[in-house]
Amino acid sequence: MNVTVVGAGIIGLSIAWRLVERGFDVTVLDSGEPGAWQVAAGMLAPGGESAFEQPALARLLEESNERWPAFAAELGVDVGYDDAGTLGLAMTADDLADAARVWTRQKLPLLRPSELRELEPALSPRVRAGVFAPAERQVDPRKVVAALRERLAGRIVAKRINALSEVDAETVVVAAGCGTAALTGLPVRPVKGQVLRLRGEPGLLRHVLDATVDGRHVYLVPRADGEIVVGATQEERTDWTVTAGGVHDLLHAAIELVPGLAEWELVETTVGHRPGTPDNAPLLGRLADDAPHAGSGSQVGSGSRVGSGRQVIVAAGHHRNGVLLAPITADLIAGLVDGEHDPLLEHFAPGRF
Ligand code: GLY
Repeated sequence: MNVTVVGAGIIGLSIAWRLVERGFDVTVLDSGEPGAWQVAAGMLAPGGESAFEQPALARLLEESNERWPAFAAELGVDVGYDDAGTLGLAMTADDLADAARVWTRQKLPLLRPSELRELEPALSPRVRAGVFAPAERQVDPRKVVAALRERLAGRIVAKRINALSEVDAETVVVAAGCGTAALTGLPVRPVKGQVLRLRGEPGLLRHVLDATVDGRHVYLVPRADGEIVVGATQEERTDWTVTAGGVHDLLHAAIELVPGLAEWELVETTVGHRPGTPDNAPLLGRLADDAPHAGSGSQVGSGSRVGSGRQVIVAAGHHRNGVLLAPITADLIAGLVDGEHDPLLEHFAPGRF
């Protein structure tokens, strides 16, 4: 069976890779539009990034996290997978009150400032408390995408489509991130994030730092080569402007947390858009037969199967967790194309909106 995957971000490419492994004839359409993976820090943080009272989403995040070591190893090249773990940190008493709710849910014991500085000597003495989350790791999304593209060489076509009717395939998988809304009418909205990259002597930090600093959330993701990714603002905006306030807030929090960073070079300021949904959980599954969608209703008929009998499957809206969720999304969607149906998918059906 031939399958066209619309979208060449980390989700589309991961699905395509798994489909090729299952023997499908796969083409990936790369619109050339910027994807969230290009700016993503690559935190694999099922606890720190997950929402309260979404047990199915929490399970999806946990299970995908468990699949990451094998996923990275199977790619067969260095993708920056690093299991040193994450320090959750709080700068003030108010920050601690906020962060403690997440840490309690994760059942992580509170560490004193002296214990934290033993783990991470560059931390500011102002840091009030924190936790060590050994299962929250990191990967370099740019390296992952490069490795996936290598695996899919010859199958990726540079083509931007405006409607699914332009695709001629027995199965279409729409993994177009924020572009999924225009193609399917599903409610995927861009959530702006400004992200910085600093460069300096490797080894200043050993762990991912996920902190609340004077009421602001900031994360620092140190790479082995001396890059530190500092992220990210979260703004309900669609523009691409790097703002003075955004950069100031991120740098202020980062330098408060790790004063030595004041001497580092600021090498990149970027904007990305996370593909958000109304409940910020992903859309995974067939387009519902009884739920025509405004953007594509006339092209896709009344749902997942068009006259020719083709099926349309969606894998989008991963919001803050696209990198973390790539392995499980790829497995579930490749399975679905192959006629399998994991009950976990029911919680993420696109038809819920
Ligand atoms: N997962 C990090 C972010 O969305 O900023």
